[in-house]
Amino acid sequence: MNLTDDLQSAIADEVAALAVEHRELAAAATRLSRRYREGGPATGLDGSPAAIAAYLVTRLPATWAATVAALSAVADARPAWHPRTLLDVGGGPGTVLWATTSVWGSLERAAVVEQDPRMLAVGRRMAQRAQPPAVRGARWLASDVTRGDWQQPADLVVAAYVLGELPPAARARFIERLVTMATVAVVVEPGTPEGSARVLAAREVALAAGGRTVAPCPHDEACPLARPDWCHFAARVNRTKLHRQIKGAQAPYEDEKFSYGAWTREPVDRPGPARVLRHPRIDPGRITLSLCTMDGTALETVTARDRLPFKAARKVSWGQTWPPA
Ligand SMILES: C[S@@+](CC[C@H](N)C(=O)[O-])C[C@H]1O[C@@H](n2cnc3c(N)ncnc32)[C@H](O)[C@@H]1O
Repeated sequence: MNLTDDLQSAIADEVAALAVEHRELAAAATRLSRRYREGGPATGLDGSPAAIAAYLVTRLPATWAATVAALSAVADARPAWHPRTLLDVGGGPGTVLWATTSVWGSLERAAVVEQDPRMLAVGRRMAQRAQPPAVRGARWLASDVTRGDWQQPADLVVAAYVLGELPPAARARFIERLVTMATVAVVVEPGTPEGSARVLAAREVALAAGGRTVAPCPHDEACPLARPDWCHFAARVNRTKLHRQIKGAQAPYEDEKFSYGAWTREPVDRPGPARVLRHPRIDPGRITLSLCTMDGTALETVTARDRLPFKAARKVSWGQTWPPA
């Protein structure tokens, strides 16, 4: 995936305006990656211009790509649904806002709820450089989502990379609120065992609140994945030149691992009875798919003799539903 041109230039302009020296930016990016790997809050840091610039250059592209991938799975599951209103909760610089308009052109109104006034100011400025009017016209609300009256009805509510930053005791109530305020509620978390466990706990709350799974689970039964396995997916995003420079990275892209859940209280029509849980294993004349199904996890082998299924299996990738509609 490539960030859209307007998002790339909004990031570049904002990073230039933050006027952080290259060395300071690289040091902030290293602290941010370390913090992210250790599972701590990714933006809390010190809220300095360097920390914010490092987030924009090194983390925003990855969280944007993960959110686009999660929302695309929702779009696949609900092809006739076109959200017009969005609430981006714990929005940081408005990553979800930008991601949503990359998936649906139907968005008319949006609001971003964010507790950190510095991040909120950055996000608001960046949004002014967006092509989609819904991003430019978004409302920005300074609020703590564990308190306050930030709730409002929306077609879509998304909390990306936020759940892990909330106090554990506040998470269940938070998820209940998301599921009851919107037609579709989506949570995206890092694709680590811990992030996946948070999504699983959110799933239980969402189902108990009357939600049904839109994606990724092809059912509402107990999750069949047992530790040390965990449910996660990957989104590939191309790195900008500045990103490569400050990370000292050679690869022109990175693969962001993420876990997610999407729930609705409306009836669901799932696009396939199974979801592909790994990169398909390709051997000569044979493709093996690792699947999540209604009856648990399963390995399905498709051979070249089954001409049409084999053709489909060559095209299916990790995270998609199986068999294709
Ligand atoms: C890792 S960032 C994710 C930002 C954005 N959603 C993304 O995907 O790039 C988490 C954001 O959640 C915000 N946040 C954490 N706890 C919050 C709370 N209780 N209320 C509102 N925002 C919160 C942080 O300030 C931060 O901007």
